[in-house]
Amino acid sequence: MDHKTKILVVDDEQVVREGCSRVLTGKGYEVLTAENGQKAVDLLNQETVDIILLDLKMPVMSGEEVLEKTRVQYPDIPVIIITGHGTVDTAVDCMKQGAYDFITKPFQIDQFLLTINRAAEKRALEKKARSYEEEKLRNLYDLDLEKSRLKTIINCMADGVMVTNRNLEVVLHNPALMRLLEISGKVENPVFVNQIVDDKALRNTLEGIQTGVSARDEFVSQEISAGKMVLRAISAPALGPDDEVVGTVTVLQDITAFRRLDEMKSDFVNMVAHELRSPLISIRQQNTVLLEGLLGPLEERQKEFLGKGVKKIDQLLELINDLLDIAKIEEGKQVQRRVPTDIESLIKDTLSLLKPRAKKQGIILTDSCKNMKPVHADPKGIEEILNNLVTNAINYSPEGGRIEVTGQILGEYMEIKVSDTGVGIDSEELPKIFDKFYRIKNQKTRNVTGTGLGLAIVKGVVESHNGTIDVESVPEKGTTFRILLPVIREEGKSP
Ligand SMILES: Nc1ncnc2c1ncn2[C@@H]1O[C@H](COP(=O)(O)OP(=O)(O)O)[C@@H](O)[C@H]1O
Ligand SMILES: [Mg+2]
Repeated sequence: MDHKTKILVVDDEQVVREGCSRVLTGKGYEVLTAENGQKAVDLLNQETVDIILLDLKMPVMSGEEVLEKTRVQYPDIPVIIITGHGTVDTAVDCMKQGAYDFITKPFQIDQFLLTINRAAEKRALEKKARSYEEEKLRNLYDLDLEKSRLKTIINCMADGVMVTNRNLEVVLHNPALMRLLEISGKVENPVFVNQIVDDKALRNTLEGIQTGVSARDEFVSQEISAGKMVLRAISAPALGPDDEVVGTVTVLQDITAFRRLDEMKSDFVNMVAHELRSPLISIRQQNTVLLEGLLGPLEERQKEFLGKGVKKIDQLLELINDLLDIAKIEEGKQVQRRVPTDIESLIKDTLSLLKPRAKKQGIILTDSCKNMKPVHADPKGIEEILNNLVTNAINYSPEGGRIEVTGQILGEYMEIKVSDTGVGIDSEELPKIFDKFYRIKNQKTRNVTGTGLGLAIVKGVVESHNGTIDVESVPEKGTTFRILLPVIREEGKSP
């Protein structure tokens, strides 16, 4: 108990008051005393007590009168009558008036304590019940407050919010949603989702979430267009108390301006890259003519300088080509020509092209393919993948390294692996290496030039083929990139 049970003893006999005090204090109760009814009433006005022990025959104000008053004012406090007569009649009268129990003088200690303990227990239980009741009311109030707050927040949001139930009916939406979807007029909930969102892909997503096709802790993000606007829709399941899917929640953002800016940026980069490429190619050609001595012999130093210039031009051309490739991938134009492609000969071609470069660094290139068959793919894209991965393997391997490229069919997929015995990649860098322009800068990569676009291009091409790429690496030991591309069966032919 967090506080002591407080008992008020009302009796005109000092011996009784003192006796009660002693016994009850000894049992851990807190005791107050009053020598007559009036004093008891005054005390009750100032203090909260848990139990009243009340004598009947007292001067100034009788016990009966006190009982009557407390019944009205403090109906929850149990009153135990102390009676000198011990007659059943008086006791019954008081009980009828609402007293909790009675004890007779002279007290028998056991009996006395038993009665007091019972009253204390009753009082404590009642208090507990009341505090539960109060807490329940408070919780209901808080809940109500929370609901109304949430409603205000949702209604004030600039993003559209749409909540559906199990039957994919919209049960909650905000004004922003109506604005973004260009719906005028009032929409009464619930209304079937089709009547609000005119986008099949989003509806498919919501159905997928509802039927448990998408994982329950997953957010599905997709772009949809509504009129002239481009919207980003982020959808997730609404979960019930037992973690079951009870509906879906979608938040819609207006990203029209971002999209437009993005297009402008891509157009600009494309334009600049194109404009730079042609003059660079002619400068390279002219320098090569000079370098090869076609316009007269050159001295060693002149050759050296021109050679360095050509190398720089090649780096610039590489950057420009990478930028143009990335732009194409981002516009979704990468895979245009998918034909049955012989991956094995693409691997062999790439390796023989890169062999001279590898040889210069004392690196051995090998390939092994088994169980191969043509894959429906864009040969230029595959070439780009192989070229980037093998070039990286050469660039990031010390002298004497080994690089192996393997290809094989695994069920529905073609697996291509490029493994090297190079410098490796720290595990915290691994998630970042596919980002555009990301390059690892450390002692070992310092002397390698590059754009940081190679792996972004590789990933883009792989994904446009609906494939996947992953990487495993051990620093100082080597790295393996593994690509899985779906082998698309041609109509009428067995796989
Ligand atoms: N085979 C590899 N071994 C070790 N590090 C690699 C390998 N391939 C890529 N990396 C790391 O990933 C980074 C990103 O690669 P990439 O996108 O091709 O850019 P770039 O080669 O132009 O730097 C590289 O800078 C390099 O640090
Ligand atoms: Mg690279």
